[in-house]
Amino acid sequence: MLMVVDQAVGASHGGAVRASLGPDRVAGVVEITAEEPLKRMSTVERIWQACLQVGLDRSGAIIAVGGGLTGDVAGFAAASFMRGVDVVQIPTTLLSMVDASIGGKTGINVPLPGSDRLGKNLAGAFWAPKLVLVDPETLETLPRRELRSGLAECVKHGVIADRGLLALIGSHAELLAQGDRAAIDTLLPRSIEVKRAIVQADEHERGSRMLLNLGHTFAHAIEPITDLDLTHGEAVAIGMCAAAWCAEGCGLCSIEDCESLTRTLSSLGLPTSMPRAEPIDALCDAMRYDKKATGDRLRLVLPTRDAAVVRDDVPPGAVREAWQRVMPEG
Ligand SMILES: NC(=O)c1ccc[n+]([C@@H]2O[C@H](COP(=O)([O-])OP(=O)(O)OC[C@H]3O[C@@H](n4cnc5c(N)ncnc54)[C@H](O)[C@@H]3O)[C@@H](O)[C@H]2O)c1
Repeated sequence: MLMVVDQAVGASHGGAVRASLGPDRVAGVVEITAEEPLKRMSTVERIWQACLQVGLDRSGAIIAVGGGLTGDVAGFAAASFMRGVDVVQIPTTLLSMVDASIGGKTGINVPLPGSDRLGKNLAGAFWAPKLVLVDPETLETLPRRELRSGLAECVKHGVIADRGLLALIGSHAELLAQGDRAAIDTLLPRSIEVKRAIVQADEHERGSRMLLNLGHTFAHAIEPITDLDLTHGEAVAIGMCAAAWCAEGCGLCSIEDCESLTRTLSSLGLPTSMPRAEPIDALCDAMRYDKKATGDRLRLVLPTRDAAVVRDDVPPGAVREAWQRVMPEG
């Protein structure tokens, strides 16, 4: 087995995985730096090289220990090395526990033509993990900001499929944002269950799984702008607000619904508007590279009063207006 581990948790959680497997089971370790600009082909090649060095064959496996970034890159390396070796996901961020490690999406960012920006997750594969091992104790070392980032994906699960979960998050917002263990332990299985059920019903995203992309088409336009310094979950929080305003513009939900979502996200310490104004033309342009787009048509997930819907007939004006709504005032 080859272990691919986020260098931030290499000694701690990576060490614990090695110790529990026994020294001879892990033939090699690749440490990666969990930064979006490094979520790219050169890192995958480094993992393939290590696979060759330790003589991994098709009966071998890659164990990913880290957040969603580590899981995505290691998963993609596993999906493609010798046309596929097993992958085990051991997520160490809340975001990865409730979302990224489940469902088999793997991938890397790709430089956009004629631009210095990266297109989010534009190359990848569906590659289901053999096992996902969630140990909430690993969250004890996770910075608060990263924990809150994971809460954004839990809110997403609540909006699209479990309004009871959304209410639970709203009523425990302060404890959750502080990383209270009991509150997190209540949240984890319920949020994981939303993702599990959706993925089980539509593994390859031909229909209902698209709902999990709520907020992501907007988020993917801003997350790669490195000097905005947004985590994935923060970009998704802003993206969900934009999606809600877009839905309001299309008559799918009310202003009160948008304000309620904004309040829930901000009570968790998540951003609900852009840290600074960005040219809307450039953001709309970046959205075209989203994997859900077909031709010139964007496919957007928009919240409704009690769930969410997938729409590919949203007028460009409504998308621009939605961006305008999440720009800072003044
Ligand atoms: N495959 C999917 O279905 C899916 C779903 C959602 C997000 N993603 C991807 O996941 C990535 C975001 O994942 P993430 O939020 O887990 O971010 P991440 O993997 O970048 O980790 C966030 C930060 O936390 C650190 N870290 C991780 N675990 C830690 C721990 N236990 N203690 C201390 N520090 C720790 C990392 O070093 C990093 O600095 C994005 O690239 C996104 O595209 C994939």
